[in-house]
Amino acid sequence: MRAGVIGCGSIGKVHIKNLKAVGAEVVAACDIDESELEYVKNNFGVEHLYRDYRDLIARSDIDAVVVATPNYLHYQMTVDALKEGKHVLCEKPPALTARQVKKMFDASRKHGRALLIGLTLRFRGDSRALRKYVEEVGIGEPYYARASLLRRSGIPGYGSWFTRKSEAGSGPLYDIGVHALDITMWLMNNFKVKEVYATTYAKFGPKGKGLGTWGKPVPGGPFDVEDLAAAMIRMESGATIQLEVSWAAHITSDSFRVIVLGDKAGLEFPGAKVYAEEGVLVDKQLKFAEEDPYIVEMRHFKEVVERGVEPVTKPEEMVMLQAALEAALKSAEEGRVVRVSEVL
Ligand SMILES: NC(=O)c1ccc[n+]([C@@H]2O[C@H](COP(=O)([O-])OP(=O)(O)OC[C@H]3O[C@@H](n4cnc5c(N)ncnc54)[C@H](O)[C@@H]3O)[C@@H](O)[C@H]2O)c1
Repeated sequence: MRAGVIGCGSIGKVHIKNLKAVGAEVVAACDIDESELEYVKNNFGVEHLYRDYRDLIARSDIDAVVVATPNYLHYQMTVDALKEGKHVLCEKPPALTARQVKKMFDASRKHGRALLIGLTLRFRGDSRALRKYVEEVGIGEPYYARASLLRRSGIPGYGSWFTRKSEAGSGPLYDIGVHALDITMWLMNNFKVKEVYATTYAKFGPKGKGLGTWGKPVPGGPFDVEDLAAAMIRMESGATIQLEVSWAAHITSDSFRVIVLGDKAGLEFPGAKVYAEEGVLVDKQLKFAEEDPYIVEMRHFKEVVERGVEPVTKPEEMVMLQAALEAALKSAEEGRVVRVSEVL
């Protein structure tokens, strides 16, 4: 695989390192920030550097592109790269709207090139062990799930694109809620969302409180996104998902817990625990290997590109994931239940 990376910020550099680690060649990199280009040249020996991504994707000696730019750029850069015949690993959230995500996968189909979304939690040992259990043993009917991903003080890049609605789309809902909701629906093996009722709050960001270490702050920049979101998501099947996410909250420490309840067994993530009925109730700790999920993700992308393996993030899943998050934002804004059909 010969790859180009667009966006050489925090995660772009991780991807460059990991592309090399899995045996891919990083031919070119693009960023609008000259200092980032200088960094990847000096530290990773990337030879061809661009400030305009269109020059990178025009190269005929590249077969894969990683899009690791701010959220609002994912859609256009991905569609353009697919048009140029490149396979794409696009960071999460896939885009700002479900309609954009649909168009991204339409472009993937039309141009016969794969599109993988960087939902890194799917590449953890524990999530994969749980998913295998769901596929091979099953948990009966998954009827209720709760996904809670709360940071105590973790607002990223204050004043930068992260905290601008026009560039990020939303705060923690799109930033980390996308991970929590995706892993939950993946473990339920159900992405058929019907409607969403949600509320959002901004109690820390506007006061410049609750800041974290991720991202590059821009002094004086805006904060016009939420810092906490809570959503009740009703699935077509009648199942319910409760989602709560925060960048900042008055809690003792960061916490992340997903439970998925079926009528035969329940799952707990992180940690790959199963509580099942097998005549009697049994608690199981599934075995799994710990490996850097970003490396596993990149290895998967390489197999997608080189061997035609189907990307683990399926088009219809990604459209519904984005639709659920978008419907949650709309619900919070309008104070009513929003059907996903309204945003599709
Ligand atoms: N999968 C994960 O676990 C994970 C982790 C972190 C970030 N992300 C996602 O990756 C993306 C980037 O996040 P980050 O934390 O690296 O942000 P970042 O701000 O550190 O990096 C973004 C980079 O994109 C560059 N950029 C901006 N506009 C550009 C343009 N027009 N052309 C080329 N480059 C441009 C910026 O200069 C910057 O270097 C976001 O969508 C984020 O949600 C995913």
